Formats: sequence, structure tokens, C-alpha cells
Amino acid sequence: MLRVCGRLAGVRTQVRYKSSFAVALDAASKLVSPRLLWNNPISLVSNEMNTLAKNIMALIGSGHPTLNRVSSYYFETEGKKVRPLLVLLLSRALSEIPLSERDRIGIDTSDVPEDPIYSKLSANTTMFDTPVNNISPLHILHGIKPLNPLTKGPEPQTQPGFDRERGILPKQRRLAEVVEMIHTASLLHDDVIDYSDTRRGRPSGNVAFSNKMAVLAGDFLLGRATVAISRLQNPEVVELMSNSIANLVEGEFMQLKNMAVDEQPYVTENGKKQLPASSKKLDIKEHDYRVPSKDFKEGMPHEELINLAFEYYLHKTYLKTASLISKSCRSAAILSGAREPVIEQCYDFGRNIGICFQLVDDLLDFSVSAKELGKPAGADLKLGIATAPVLFAWKEDPSLGALIQRNFSHEGDVETTFKAVQKHDGVKKTMEFAKEYRNKALKNLHEVLPESDCRSALEFLTNSIVTRKK
Ligand code: FPP
Ligand code: MG
Repeated sequence: MLRVCGRLAGVRTQVRYKSSFAVALDAASKLVSPRLLWNNPISLVSNEMNTLAKNIMALIGSGHPTLNRVSSYYFETEGKKVRPLLVLLLSRALSEIPLSERDRIGIDTSDVPEDPIYSKLSANTTMFDTPVNNISPLHILHGIKPLNPLTKGPEPQTQPGFDRERGILPKQRRLAEVVEMIHTASLLHDDVIDYSDTRRGRPSGNVAFSNKMAVLAGDFLLGRATVAISRLQNPEVVELMSNSIANLVEGEFMQLKNMAVDEQPYVTENGKKQLPASSKKLDIKEHDYRVPSKDFKEGMPHEELINLAFEYYLHKTYLKTASLISKSCRSAAILSGAREPVIEQCYDFGRNIGICFQLVDDLLDFSVSAKELGKPAGADLKLGIATAPVLFAWKEDPSLGALIQRNFSHEGDVETTFKAVQKHDGVKKTMEFAKEYRNKALKNLHEVLPESDCRSALEFLTNSIVTRKK
């Protein structure tokens, strides 16, 4: 018999939504079955989500007041927190798989609390272990003896231990925190690269503190994230998550368009933001849609060219967005002890939902105002980046190819492309494409997860990706 996950089953709860994402979820709830209306995904992991920021703060404390200010800056505002939410819900949904079918990692019962899911264990499990506070001696890690407060490491954690009601393992909880740290580090860097001036309705890190500090704070978050990953003591997870960091950089390289070496991030003329001109130091053809394919030939048929462009775009999208989500979903499954087929479906779920998420992000850049987004709209075109709505328009209008190739750098290119996207339903077609990935993600969930409130919550979250407005 299937155990009901959580106490919310059958109970209608009154939840006060705070975050912007919760508002989007609320809107999405109107589109799904009534059963899910009260089945708010956040409420199923609210303990973990509420303590997420506090736990991350403990992992990034440095003893250097300015570094602390910059590295904690993006955690102070309410972001969507989709990545940790996915990891926590998936972890809880995975706990519904009987333990007899989760025998892929070692077992040590000394740590096993009396709880409805795990109390009947007799074998050894490392699954329930909390992440260790350190592996090497502290004086080695900090490099100074006696410890200098400026080089102090993460605060020793008082581990909450295993959550018996929710079935989320301590290591999965830490994984959720690490994923948000890596994502936040990438945003600090991304805002420097994109010359952004706002993020989550506030000045972006580069504007509030300078490019240099934003980059260093991002590096610091990555450093602390990798320390925390290693303390999960699972080499497979260390490999996956480290690789997801490398993938983020690879994806960002694939979409680099502006090779400016100008010291000034931007100049303002007549109140308009202007990006520095490209230095032309690098051949930007190395960063266009032809790169991954040896099949590119000068003068090849338009349709084949479009296929190559989509191939490049999807590869970049996987690296830039879906890799972190898919590899963290895979890691959550590995930490649960689940077997290979479950691990594979969890990975595919993360990849499909990740690509869906980025497709929607790319279409919102064309369809939503800057005020609603909390960051500048139309930013991709201005950066010279052609995303799915433009590629769909290009398919219908081959003359856009020249504009794409010159990264929309001529006067009027951005406006012409915007109009072409409207004329050829680029936004609508991108939404249809996103829904295909949403459907694949829903199928992945059904393939391997037993029916539970948490699985329903994951479906709800997956559906709400395509209805979000920011
Ligand atoms: C947001 O994209 C950015 C990313 C999803 C990844 C950025 C990755 C890097 C800068 C590489 C460095 C990585 C690390 C881990 C330090 P976007 O510009 O489309 O979204 P936005 O509109 O929210 O800025
Ligand atoms: Mg950006």
C-alpha cells in the first residue's frame, strides 16, 4: 500500500504566499486538477525551504565583512528557488520507493531513527549520515594556525538530521542548498557578463558592489559549494556537481557574443544604455550556431541551417540551464539509494524541465515588460544573442540570418528582429516547443515514482513552468 507523503493529504490549508514564484504557482493551480489546488509544492517542503537561506548563510560565512555582504546579497531577496524546490520534492518523492528497492548505496543502521519509512532496516546504510563538518584538519583547510578570523571556514553545522516525517535525507537537504549556491554564483558572474543593472528588482551585484567584487564573491560561493559537495562523501555526486559547474561555463562560452575589452561596462547616452563595442579580438564565428556541427557547408539549404542552429541552441541551453538541474536531480536519486532506471529517469526529468524552463525564460524576454520581469526585457537581442523565438522567425524569414550573424549590431536590427518574431509567432512556437519538454518531464515522473502528494507537487511545479510570468 502506498504511504501518503506528508500531513496535508485531505486537509485544506491556508497558506500566505510571499515569493513571486508562489504567485506564479497560484496562477498555475487554476490550470490543473482541483486535487492539486491545495497541494502547494512549497508547503510540502516548507521546513527545508524556510531554513534554506539560513543554512546557506552558515556555509558562506567568511569573517570578512565585505565579502560576506557581497556573497550574501542575492540570497537576501526572494528568488524563485526552483532548483532547491525540485531537489527537495524529488527527494521526498523518492522516499516513497520501498527501501528494499533502494539498495544501490551502502547502509549503516546506527544512525537510523525510528520512523515510518526507514525503521525496519537491518542492513548498513550511509544514506542517513549527515554531511561531515570537515574531512581534512581545520588548520590545513584554513591555512593559518592559530585560526585567523579572516580565513575562517564555514560554520560547523548543527545538523538537523533525518526528517522522519518528510523522508528527506540530510545529504539531500545539503544538496538543495549547494544547488542554490552554484546557481547564485553563476548569476553574479552572468550579470557582469551581460552588463546587467538589475536583478530581482534591485541593483545587480556588479552595480551595487563593482564587477571585481561580484566576480570574486561568485568564485567564493563556488568554492564553498564544492567544499560542501565533497563533504557529502559520495564521489559520484562530487563528479556530477563539479561537472555541472564546468557545464555552466561551457554554456556561457557558447553564447558569448560581445568580446569587448572596454574597461567601462557601459556608457549612457540620452538615458539609453549602450554596450561597449566589440574589440574584434576574437573571431565571433567561433561562437555561432555552426560550431558543434561538422555538417555545416557554405550555401547549404535554409532548412538544414535552421536545424543546425536549433541543435546549437539546445546544446547551449542544456549546458547553461538544464545541466545543473538534471545533475542535481540525478544526485538526489543517487543519494536516495535508488537503482539505475530510477536514476536515469530523474536525470531525464531534470534535463527536460531545465530545457523547458530556459525556453520559457527566452520567450519571456520578448513578451513581458521589464517591470514585470524585475530585470531588463529584450536583453538577449541587445546582447547579440539569438534565442528560440528568433530562430523560429528566421525559419520563416531567411533574411534574418544576416542580422543574427552580425549579432544585431546594426542600427535598427533589434527592432526589425522584434517585429519578425511577432509576425512569425516566434513566442507562440517557442511555448509549444517548451510544452513538448514539459510533457516529456511529466512522463519521466510517472515512469518511476510511486503515486504520492510529492509526485503530484512535482507535476504541478512542472506545469507551472510554462505559465510563469517571470
Ligand atoms: C542566466 O542566464 C545565467 C545562467 C543560467 C548561467 C550563467 C553561467 C555563467 C556566467 C558561467 C559561470 C558559472 C559559474 C558557476 C560561476 P540569462 O542571462 O539568460 O538569464 P538572466 O536574464 O536571468 O540574466
Ligand atoms: Mg543574464
